[in-house]
Amino acid sequence: MATTSTLSTPDLLEQVRLAGSPPKHVAIIMDGNGRWARERLMPRPFGHRSGMKAVREVVHGAIEAGLQHLSLFAFSQENWQRPTTEVSALMSLLEEYIAREVAELSERGVRVRILGERDRLTDGARKAVEMVERTTAHNDTLTLNIFISYGSRTELVRATQSLARDVAQGIMSPDDIDEDAISGRLMTAGMPDPDLLIRTSGEQRVSNFLLWQLAYTEFYISGVLWPDFGRRDLFTAILDYKRRERRYGKVSV
Ligand code: IPE
Ligand code: IPE
Ligand code: MG
Repeated sequence: MATTSTLSTPDLLEQVRLAGSPPKHVAIIMDGNGRWARERLMPRPFGHRSGMKAVREVVHGAIEAGLQHLSLFAFSQENWQRPTTEVSALMSLLEEYIAREVAELSERGVRVRILGERDRLTDGARKAVEMVERTTAHNDTLTLNIFISYGSRTELVRATQSLARDVAQGIMSPDDIDEDAISGRLMTAGMPDPDLLIRTSGEQRVSNFLLWQLAYTEFYISGVLWPDFGRRDLFTAILDYKRRERRYGKVSV
């Protein structure tokens, strides 16, 4: 058999299909837009704009591969500390992405959810987010979770506050707080944990993404900068995942 690197994209997809049930949930830390722009002597927002095209490509790949959930880390809470021009460019790109893609996403059966601290978004971005969620709410081919203004520690703080409030009001007892109770108060409530986490641009850290949910997730680090990441990279990562043994602390069978 040819190695995956020499296969065409359709052949790679065929391999993914032959490999059996795909991961239900793939999460991606989309990193490297700034370096991609710098390599071209262009300003950072140019890299973010090209990154938007990669999102489109990967969403289509996720549908083809039969994923149920695709989670994309697009903007962290910590990213608010970047220069205002870059932050504004990213907010505008979010609006532009939604305006451009909403019809096709709907048509392809994609449900879009935006997760993060929504009140920090600009009015325009917030309206776009509400619109795309409303328009795609009834779709069920793929759920596309876009994490914007998201930080996992804050998410855990909010979940803890919400449980503490219920205990204080006598709605639940401290003994009722178990793993399911915590999972149920996170923004990802009701979703399976990611099976596979991909990070692009070679960085090997989680940068405050889904700390609770990644407990047993398989990691795949790709050296590709996000704007160059495409369907074949996604398929290659899925095939790599399919070759692994997930032991969950037990011994091999
Ligand atoms: C990822 O690319 C996109 C965001 C974090 C918004 P970066 O902007 O972090 O690109 P690099 O890491 O500087 O290359
Ligand atoms: C993580 O990338 C956040 C997103 C991809 C949205 P960063 O580029 O912000 O992460 P660090 O600073 O390298 O850890
Ligand atoms: Mg980065």
